[in-house]
Amino acid sequence: MNVVISSIVPGGAGIRVFELRACDAGPLPAYAAGAHIDVSLPNGLTRQYSLCCREPSGNTYRIAVKREPQSRGGSDWLHAQAQAGSVLQISHPRNAFALTANAGMHLLLAGGIGITPILSMAYELLRRGQPFRLLYFVRDDSSIAFAEELTASPLAPQVRIFSGLSPQQSAAAIASTLDADAQLAADVQVYTCGPGAFMNSVVELAQARFGVASVHKESFSLTPPGPSTAAFVLRLIRSERDIAVAADQTALACLQAAGIEIDCSCEVGVCGTCRTVVTDGIAQHHDAYLSPAEKLANNCFMPCVSRAATAVLSIDL
Ligand code: FES
Repeated sequence: MNVVISSIVPGGAGIRVFELRACDAGPLPAYAAGAHIDVSLPNGLTRQYSLCCREPSGNTYRIAVKREPQSRGGSDWLHAQAQAGSVLQISHPRNAFALTANAGMHLLLAGGIGITPILSMAYELLRRGQPFRLLYFVRDDSSIAFAEELTASPLAPQVRIFSGLSPQQSAAAIASTLDADAQLAADVQVYTCGPGAFMNSVVELAQARFGVASVHKESFSLTPPGPSTAAFVLRLIRSERDIAVAADQTALACLQAAGIEIDCSCEVGVCGTCRTVVTDGIAQHHDAYLSPAEKLANNCFMPCVSRAATAVLSIDL
């Protein structure tokens, strides 16, 4: 659907907050906290942004975009080119990061721009009247997004902001919060969004205390390079073609160069759009979309980032 940017306001250092409205000014689809939309930009790129409205229904969406130093064109365009009145195409909201229905305590941990889905969740938990705490880790005070909302009632009593901590100090703060909540509530659910290293730390500490099923994460960041970048061959079983993937190429780029149509969106292994069925060989997963169990099952992979651990990987294309 098409939307128009109705306002742009600064949201902290290097962050712009966009309000979007339907071009016909009608209502936008409702969604649950934690949802994101795909935003198709006029430069041909598609990027995912979490919705961070106070209310998950109404006539506007709100997204916040941090200008990434290594932007491949998404955040750059939204910072340098986008202006009020620009028209964007967006998808319906999708949610792979939903809140559980109930918990003794919902612990929300955000790092940097990862505050966006976490903010929606905090508002949702306020509406539900369910217990929660929000821990927000930022590089420095100027990097705090949504500072006014987070430090004013009604969210403020549940929010703690940690500014300028080292990774070790952050891990210690997270561990002590988790330990404190483990004493207070029987069922603690943990949600985290932020840079990869931050989320890894949260996930490791939280899973050790509350188990794998109680820890939920959302990631829109670049997947770190995998351990191997060996060349391999993609065997397309339906079209009976072999496509070579060199060490410095992605499987997706090679498929596209060979004229194979394949849906894709984020191109960094987080959205699941390019999911492709594997029929033989062993995939080497580098995405942040599939669960550990799905990766072990070895029946699909994400060609935008994932590769092959065998010389040949047969896929259902
Ligand atoms: S395009 Fe998003 S996971 Fe591949």
